[in-house]
Amino acid sequence: MKIDAEMLNLFTAQLKLCQVQAGETLVVLSAEDEWADYAQAFMTAARQLGATSFNLNVSRGERNAVGVQGRHPLVGNKLALETLKAADMVIDMVGLLFSREQAEIQAAGTRILRVMEPLHVLKQMFPTEDLRRRVEYAKSLLEGARELRFTSDAGTDMTYRLGQYPVISEYGYTCEPGRWDHFPSGFAFTQGNDGEIDGTVVLAPGDILCAFKQYVQTRVVLRVEKGMVVDISGDGIDAQLLQSYMDNFRDPRAFAVSHIGWGLNEKARWYQFSTTRQLAAEHVMNALSFYGNVLFSLGPNVELGGTNDTACHLDLPMRNCSLWLDGIPILDAGDVVHPEMRVQP
Ligand SMILES: [Fe+2]
Repeated sequence: MKIDAEMLNLFTAQLKLCQVQAGETLVVLSAEDEWADYAQAFMTAARQLGATSFNLNVSRGERNAVGVQGRHPLVGNKLALETLKAADMVIDMVGLLFSREQAEIQAAGTRILRVMEPLHVLKQMFPTEDLRRRVEYAKSLLEGARELRFTSDAGTDMTYRLGQYPVISEYGYTCEPGRWDHFPSGFAFTQGNDGEIDGTVVLAPGDILCAFKQYVQTRVVLRVEKGMVVDISGDGIDAQLLQSYMDNFRDPRAFAVSHIGWGLNEKARWYQFSTTRQLAAEHVMNALSFYGNVLFSLGPNVELGGTNDTACHLDLPMRNCSLWLDGIPILDAGDVVHPEMRVQP
């Protein structure tokens, strides 16, 4: 297979950010013929940095149902799991996200980078050390905060009590043992305390329904009591779509409020879906990461150590919101105002 020079340069720059060293072992985990060109390019990039590298290729078996997490080709494959645990770094192109197996690999000290976006997105949102600094700052603020509040002129007013759950940072590379990240990304998030999330979310036109890869066209009002959505209303199609989709899981835990955070990647584009939503390979990283969005979400919280593993997962990036941590302004009407997280011109 001929390796694309631009891809090789990009992946070499990525592995340098990850501080891949001579003598380390990097395993590229892939399934069947998916991302075969990425696998070759990552192995070549690793070898150029003096690392040992090989491709662990597994079969998918039954395909994951959309949105179902924690089931993937490593389940029951002990030898593959032990191999990944013995590596210094794993490039995950299978999607281990939130699984027990991923936690086990991390606990063994292996750093993991998930890579499952097309090349043009990897280029467009390529991480920087400054993005890392700003995202890690967001994480540290969230770790110390007791209360998060966010509002919007559309009518949103939500309050989360914090402290029960950990905080996760994602900035698009990883150079610390046992740390997971997703290339590309750019946000930090946590979860409100059980039963201590209350208020109203008003999704406004232009906010994003990631599960549908589409923009909200008509107002949706979600009333939240004690961490659960208790009412969905709105005068247009979007409220009906959301209600119908969530009802269809026949799982009350679908209505739980999940992670909360904000986007900090100034290279990510809010409008991206309008140009590429037909591309099956393109995921939601632009939508989750764009600068100044409030990433409100519903459904599972196992990634934060919670027990809700419902298959109904709704990420709902919102524009034009203001957000405070313990009264300290972080976002003002969709713009990052905190000096430590604001992009300096
Ligand atoms: Fe989510």
